[in-house]
Amino acid sequence: MPISGDEYKEIGRAAAGAVSVVAAYDRRNNEPVALTVSSFVTLSFEPPLVMFAIQHNADSYPSMVSSQAFGVSLLSENQSETARRFALKGRDKTAQTTFDSGVTLQVPLIPNSLAQIECLTNQIVLSGDHAIVIGMVETVRIFEGEPLLYFARRYGGFRPLSN
Ligand SMILES: Cc1cc2nc3c(=O)[nH]c(=O)nc-3n(C[C@H](O)[C@H](O)[C@H](O)COP(=O)(O)O)c2cc1C
Repeated sequence: MPISGDEYKEIGRAAAGAVSVVAAYDRRNNEPVALTVSSFVTLSFEPPLVMFAIQHNADSYPSMVSSQAFGVSLLSENQSETARRFALKGRDKTAQTTFDSGVTLQVPLIPNSLAQIECLTNQIVLSGDHAIVIGMVETVRIFEGEPLLYFARRYGGFRPLSN
């Protein structure tokens, strides 16, 4: 028998993760949509695939799953405000943001992030109340800095062990 919803939430609290903003331009009106995610992972080396999961009730869900391309910005340690903003609902978060443009794809990217990844949408896998969006990486730019992490509902930085 599966675990209860409360028990499931405990897993979310125990799992630390890097924080990214995934963004795309809506195909119908070219407006940007963007949300904070911790589900971004590198998936395949050859071909170079990445993925993230998006919940069905996200406002950006229809635009994201129908987009031909999306951008992933891995946030830097000093970008917790950006993470908070893109975890909100409403159009304000994108309207008040000046995005970087992709080098090869028309995707919105967060300036001054740790990495900017441009992807062509490759596959959508429906799974439970989320869709897994898989992208083929066309361009990646990595910058100097430390990652923003999320653990137990708090943002923080990476602290290496001394040994
Ligand atoms: C640290 C953090 C990680 C999150 N990770 C995800 C995720 O992986 N997938 C997802 O669908 N929502 C995730 N969310 C929630 C979305 O950011 C939130 O529901 C947002 O309001 C969705 O925006 P939208 O409704 O404009 O699409 C996360 C939120 C936080 C704070």
